[in-house]
Amino acid sequence: MDIIARRPGPSVQDVFDTDINPAPAIMRVESPAQGQSDADVPIERYFSKAWHDREIEKVWRNTWQLACRLEHIPNIGDHVVYNIVHDSLIVVRTGPDKIRAYHNSCLHRGTMLRTEGGCVKQLRCPFHGFTWNLDGKLTIIPGQWDFPHVDKAKMSLPEAQVGTWGGFVFINMAADAEPLESYLENLPEHFAAFNLEDRYVAAHVAKIMPCNWKLAMEAFVEAYHVAFAHPQVLGYYGDTNTQYDVWPGVRHVSRMISVQGVPSPALKGIPPERVIAEMRRDVPFFAGKPIEVGAHETARGKLAERARQKISRSIGRDMSGLSDTESLDLIEYMLFPNMVPWGGQALPITYRFRPNGDDPETSLMEIMFLFSKAPDGSHPPPATMTMLGPDQPWSDAPELGSAAMIVDQDTDNLMRIQKGLRASKKPGVTLARYQESRIRHFHATLDDYMAR
Ligand code: FES
Ligand SMILES: [Fe+2]
Repeated sequence: MDIIARRPGPSVQDVFDTDINPAPAIMRVESPAQGQSDADVPIERYFSKAWHDREIEKVWRNTWQLACRLEHIPNIGDHVVYNIVHDSLIVVRTGPDKIRAYHNSCLHRGTMLRTEGGCVKQLRCPFHGFTWNLDGKLTIIPGQWDFPHVDKAKMSLPEAQVGTWGGFVFINMAADAEPLESYLENLPEHFAAFNLEDRYVAAHVAKIMPCNWKLAMEAFVEAYHVAFAHPQVLGYYGDTNTQYDVWPGVRHVSRMISVQGVPSPALKGIPPERVIAEMRRDVPFFAGKPIEVGAHETARGKLAERARQKISRSIGRDMSGLSDTESLDLIEYMLFPNMVPWGGQALPITYRFRPNGDDPETSLMEIMFLFSKAPDGSHPPPATMTMLGPDQPWSDAPELGSAAMIVDQDTDNLMRIQKGLRASKKPGVTLARYQESRIRHFHATLDDYMAR
């Protein structure tokens, strides 16, 4: 495909051509972005309070956002509180197959009804005791005689829309929101084989990031920075041959695929033994007995085989048929505005990014690991979220394993990016055509929402 020049060297699809367990059809699709604007992205959207205030109205109050996982609220009355800038929603299971999201504000004098998740039989305000049942109907007004002017039937809790996909619960505050099904575009088709609905949150770590939420997210949707920011991985990570997909007419979804178990195309003459040794050094998942490479074997093939053995053991199922790419590679999607779910089994990550309260120059970044449930569907309770302090590195969260070092390297850069943009004499950031095409795509969709 010559429409957009990519770096010479084997493409992701060339690597798939030689895989032992072939890549599924959805991974064989290649869709480089076409017709994107080359214009710089104005930097004021990364720090301007006016831009941030418009984002609240145009983006946060008009898009589908990940609120929680189904396993966070398995029983009737279970709920989480989802906060996004000034808005707060109580996302509560009200029936075996029913989840609702109530605006978290008492209809008497505005008190927040819940400050955190838990399980309740009804929603009772702590100030004067107005009480709503789980269906949102007002049931109790203490001193009812004093409210002859209030019709209880008209005092139900206002609701946001709720939808579910892949074991995730989403909310949308817009009354006229498009259905989640159409909003997700091609995402369900792409994730059909990844079975995120059969996973549970095994690790959950969050940290206040020293940058705008968009900057944080953008650092995780391209591999162009890997050679300089994460040079330790180049022996086993195909950075510059990463595939970036933006589909015509698809507004909310993009993808990148980076192959692992092959060296960076920038490195020449790396023997397979070194690829394996460096991957095992950084990723304890591949540890264990030595991995020998025979005459007609490849490092990637052997690492995929080891990954399948480990995955099979950890989930108690025979995964020997799993494709090499699902066993090894970074298969990362983005769902506008702020969710980054990964496919495959190798790196079962989902990121979520949001503003840190009302501050456009800091953000809340979360990393979740979604592990497979047991074959009978059972699983441990979902991990409680580890909240790191602003000065704590991600590596203080042992549950992140080897991912923490990478994210710490990115976090150091992000602090410099936020400050550097403030110091800039140039009004926009200049993006690469191909390797930063997902960032262009994100901003095109963002511009579209902001203009509505
Ligand atoms: S503010 Fe909630 S009952 Fe008074
Ligand atoms: Fe990075």
